[in-house]
Amino acid sequence: MEKPSRLIVGITGATGTIFGVRLLQMLHGSGVETHLVLSKWAARTLVHETSYNVKEVKDLATRSYGLAEQGAAISSGSFVTMGMVIAPCSMRTLAAIAHGLGDNLIHRAADVVLKERRKLVLVVRESPFSEIHLENMLKLARMGVVILPPVPAFYNQPQSLDDMINHIAMRVIDQFDIHLDVMNRWDGVMIDQRRSQTES
Ligand SMILES: Cc1cc2nc3c(=O)[nH]c(=O)nc-3n(C[C@H](O)[C@H](O)[C@H](O)COP(=O)(O)O)c2cc1C
Repeated sequence: MEKPSRLIVGITGATGTIFGVRLLQMLHGSGVETHLVLSKWAARTLVHETSYNVKEVKDLATRSYGLAEQGAAISSGSFVTMGMVIAPCSMRTLAAIAHGLGDNLIHRAADVVLKERRKLVLVVRESPFSEIHLENMLKLARMGVVILPPVPAFYNQPQSLDDMINHIAMRVIDQFDIHLDVMNRWDGVMIDQRRSQTES
C-alpha cells in the first residue's frame, strides 16, 4: 500500500498568511489532498493582510477543520499523512509545539506528526528572534523539524512580491518531495554568463 498523498496545512496568526494561501493554491488540483486548520488569529490576520476571506481559503483545501475540532481525523496518527506544514507559524504556535501542548487542533496535529516521526515544516515568522524563540526552534530542529523562515531569495531575479512568495512556497512544497516548478531554480549560471550565452 502506498502512503496517501495527504498534507496537513496549518495557518497561524503571524504576518504572512499569504504563504499559507499560496501553498493551498499551488497544491489545488495537484493530486495532493490538503487538510487545513486556521487559528483564530490567522483568520484575523488574513483579512487584514490579503484580499481573501476565510471561506475562500477553506475552499482551496480538500478538507478544513475548526480549531477546536480535536476529534478530527488529523488528530490521530492512524490517519496517515505525508506530514504537516504550518505557514506562517507564529511564535505562540512554535512554543506550543515545542512543549507538547495539544489544546487546539493545530498543536494536536503537529504533536501527532512528531510522535509518528512524520515530516513537520514550520514557516516561522518573527523578527528579531528572542532566546525563547531560538531555543524552541533548536529543540524542534534537533527532532528533525524543518525550520523554514520565509526569507526571500534574490538570485532568481524576482520581479515582484508575488515572485518572492511563489519562490518561498515552492521551496516549502519541495520539502515534501513535491516539485512544482513555478519559479526559476538556481541552475549554477550567473546572470552575466546567461547574457553572454544568449548573445553568442
Ligand atoms: C497583524 C498581526 C501580525 C502579527 N505578526 C506576528 C508575527 O509575525 N509573528 C508572531 O509570532 N506573532 C505575530 N502576531 C501575534 C499573533 O497573532 C499572536 O501571538 C497570536 O496569539 C498567535 O496565535 P496562533 O499561533 O494561535 O495563531 C501578529 C498579530 C497580528 C494582529
